[in-house]
Amino acid sequence: MKIALVTGSNRGIGREVCRQLLQLGWTVVGTSRNGQTDLDHPSFHVIQGDVSNDASVMAMRHQFPFDHLDLLINNAGIIGSGHGVSGSTMDEITEIMNTNALGPLRMARAFEDVLVRSAQPRVVNVSSGMGVFDELSTGYFAYRWSKNQLNALTLRMHAEHFAKACVVSVCPGWVKTDMGGASAPRSVDQGGRSVVLAAVADHIQSGKFYRDGNEIPW
Ligand SMILES: NC(=O)c1ccc[n+]([C@@H]2O[C@H](COP(=O)([O-])OP(=O)(O)OC[C@H]3O[C@@H](n4cnc5c(N)ncnc54)[C@H](OP(=O)(O)O)[C@@H]3O)[C@@H](O)[C@H]2O)c1
Repeated sequence: MKIALVTGSNRGIGREVCRQLLQLGWTVVGTSRNGQTDLDHPSFHVIQGDVSNDASVMAMRHQFPFDHLDLLINNAGIIGSGHGVSGSTMDEITEIMNTNALGPLRMARAFEDVLVRSAQPRVVNVSSGMGVFDELSTGYFAYRWSKNQLNALTLRMHAEHFAKACVVSVCPGWVKTDMGGASAPRSVDQGGRSVVLAAVADHIQSGKFYRDGNEIPW
């Protein structure tokens, strides 16, 4: 049985990634802050928790119903108000870093013991082209910085052979979700597919950044 854990599975890209993995025959555990989800499938389980909080992440580890984990998808994220270095409040910067960069670190550390029990563990950090070095200069300072730091986490986990896992970053593209907004060119299906390719495709290499299954620069 191939088991995946997807954070932020109650809506948007996370929900779609769960749906596509279930279609591929995976057993999927989704996380939701309010413990609710409208996904109804015999191989889908939901656990309640907040990735920005240490105790809540440990509580999710205790709710996890399996003895091994093949795939951790750190999808949960927030974008914030979009201000620059001087316009953003420290509270907002802290919340965004805590969710988007420290959240995936917390999840990986909390679930390391079950990842190492997989024959081929993989960790997929859902990042963004907005965190690429060449794209840092305008707007959304805290979001861009948090995704840039998430990419650094991917590289460090790869270098450390964390949990002997394949560790990658992935960009879903600009997607029509609550975060992406109605003007986004990509459907949730397309965005989810980019993440699922990074999660399951055979050609994916640890320590790389992907969009639509193709390597992209940091
Ligand atoms: N949409 C895009 O165009 C786009 C582009 C590039 C990258 N991304 C990335 O893709 C990922 C998913 O984005 P999306 O567009 O699907 O966003 P979304 O529709 O706003 O959904 C975000 C999900 O993350 C969850 N979440 C937020 N903070 C959390 C926390 N502290 N603990 C646990 N769950 C939390 C939300 O749960 P609640 O319902 O409880 O708030 C929700 O399930 C994010 O990492 C985002 O940065 C998105």
